[in-house]
Amino acid sequence: AQNARESLYIVSQFAGNFFEDQLWNTPEGKAIGLSYFKERGFREDIIKKFNLGYSPDFWDALTQDAVKNKHAEEYLEKTGLAIRNDKGKLYDRFRGRVMFPIHNFTGRIIGFGGRTLKTDKNVPKYVNSPESDIYHKSNVLYGLFHAKKAIRDTDNCYLVEGYADVLAVHQAHIENVVASSGTSLTIEQIRLIGRFTQNVTILYDGDAAGIKASLRGLDMILEEGLNVKVVSFPTGDDPDSYMHKVGAGAFKSYIEDNRQDFILYKANILLAEAGKDPIKRAGIIRDIVESIAKIPDNIKASVFIRECSRLLEVEERILLSELNTMRAAKL
Ligand code: CTP
Ligand code: MN
Ligand code: MN
Ligand code: MN
Ligand code: MN
Repeated sequence: AQNARESLYIVSQFAGNFFEDQLWNTPEGKAIGLSYFKERGFREDIIKKFNLGYSPDFWDALTQDAVKNKHAEEYLEKTGLAIRNDKGKLYDRFRGRVMFPIHNFTGRIIGFGGRTLKTDKNVPKYVNSPESDIYHKSNVLYGLFHAKKAIRDTDNCYLVEGYADVLAVHQAHIENVVASSGTSLTIEQIRLIGRFTQNVTILYDGDAAGIKASLRGLDMILEEGLNVKVVSFPTGDDPDSYMHKVGAGAFKSYIEDNRQDFILYKANILLAEAGKDPIKRAGIIRDIVESIAKIPDNIKASVFIRECSRLLEVEERILLSELNTMRAAKL
């Protein structure tokens, strides 16, 4: 079994080299893939650092090359790099896409995300590797291998949604960044971050889905006992689009100046929705205390209760009794 896993790593690395070679050294790869990354504003050193690639727009380009290089069909299938059709013939999963290899935190390639170059809404934007013996999507943070040292050094981890966001934040010279990769954040991903730091700063997209995911994510992070802050982006922007819009320096200042602790973040979002309606305001207070109730550490929780009391002008003892009721209900 150990050998079989090793074979999956080896064929994944082969594919990573193949896609990278296509991007840099073939007319199709250069004209389509490399120009795509450059048009999006990514620098060559970033494209190289993350081993980005290009999969040719051809039925079985990778499969043919892999078989020619003595890689067994079995492993191409088990990594999902190739798919067998009804006639028993193998074809490539990734075709005509720019490729993001996904590394585990020791730096080995375990899967891929492939982005379409088409704007057609019927084509899925990203195609990803399926689960395999070496790739368990819910346990992986994209970019962790390239971020882990900086996460330790800065004692903070920026959490973004997507592949391009990780690249853009690196390009702004901020290296402590990982992506949950669309899948809603998992407990396993939070525990993985917890091996390197206790502090998470969420930088999700400035759209309804990003706000919803931030609210859900911050509760999960609090429940795991980690500290969480949130930076919001203007509506319609994500870290990638915003960094390219304002430039690296302004981006860095933006995330430093707009970091909100979770109470302020929730209060701002919810108060904007509720306006002056007193019943809605009461709902907000309860909602925020619900998040505080997830914090395992009582002393930390009491500090946030005090902040909440000041911010929303509610007596601390009322919030504390609400907190205790919620905690009792959870037991
Ligand atoms: N994602 C995915 N499959 C999709 C859409 C999204 O796996 N069909 C994952 C990808 O990891 C993607 C992340 O979710 O990077 C965030 O999605 P989204 O914000 O829609 O994409 P962006 O990362 O902003 O992609 P881009 O900037 O390339 O348009
Ligand atoms: Mn396993
Ligand atoms: Mn998004
Ligand atoms: Mn996005
Ligand atoms: Mn984007």
